[in-house]
Amino acid sequence: MKKLYLIGMGPGNPEYLTLQAITTLKQVDVFFMLEKEGRGKAELLAMRHAILQQYCAPQQYRVVTVNSPPRAKTLDYQNDVQVWHDEKRALFVELIRNELADGQIGAFLLWGDPSLYDQTVSLIAEVVANTDELVEFEIIPGITSVQVLTAKHKIPLNRVGESITITTGRHVETCDPASIDNAVVMLDYNASFQRFTGQNMDVYWGGYLGCPDEILMAGAVDEVRDDLLQLKAQVRENKGWLMDIYLLRRRTMTPQE
Ligand SMILES: C[S@@+](CC[C@H](N)C(=O)[O-])C[C@H]1O[C@@H](n2cnc3c(N)ncnc32)[C@H](O)[C@@H]1O
Repeated sequence: MKKLYLIGMGPGNPEYLTLQAITTLKQVDVFFMLEKEGRGKAELLAMRHAILQQYCAPQQYRVVTVNSPPRAKTLDYQNDVQVWHDEKRALFVELIRNELADGQIGAFLLWGDPSLYDQTVSLIAEVVANTDELVEFEIIPGITSVQVLTAKHKIPLNRVGESITITTGRHVETCDPASIDNAVVMLDYNASFQRFTGQNMDVYWGGYLGCPDEILMAGAVDEVRDDLLQLKAQVRENKGWLMDIYLLRRRTMTPQE
């Protein structure tokens, strides 16, 4: 039997690993690291290595680093995702077959928590269900970037009795701004909070949370919008990449049933 762990590593800071994650790391024979294209790739990989150096004995594990298949960006988003997932499944099959011996434990260190905007769980579940090898897998939950955002801004995720939406820039870019009262926005490459100008909304923004370059900004969208746009442009220019998340909150809460 081969065993795979999908370990939530938290967003950046090695201190965000849970005790369960640390105990699990120490049992792993092979860590699989998927390198994504883009200017942040060296730093993101270095953070994973820093975690292993901090918690594991040097001779205890092997690291297999492979290029993560990039997603094509055509006008057919659904098809692009399907092709991308097929390629990732094929890569996982290959890694399990060629890099993990029977009786060994392999692991993926997944950013934040594996359940949030990360399809590795679904893809590995399909691979494990369809392989002719004996493989089992387990998920070790992690702290999400959502939790770090609210902790750093010292705010609750929702006010009393209120719902919380977790969504993407892709959605917020086109939705009716009046439909959003309290939402965390992730994967936003177009600063879509601008659409909420004049909507009586606050924004709580965080960049590189948990990382050495962490930055926070908060205030009424109408008041901080221009400063936030400028800050984002400046840090993106300096570092070459930006990972950010924000919570949009309407000042007057809509009563919930
Ligand atoms: C592919 S999703 C993965 C989310 C991850 N599984 C989690 O639990 O946070 C990546 C998005 O999460 C958000 N994110 C993750 N880590 C972050 C960090 N350290 N600082 C700011 N945003 C972060 C950003 O919105 C980014 O575009």
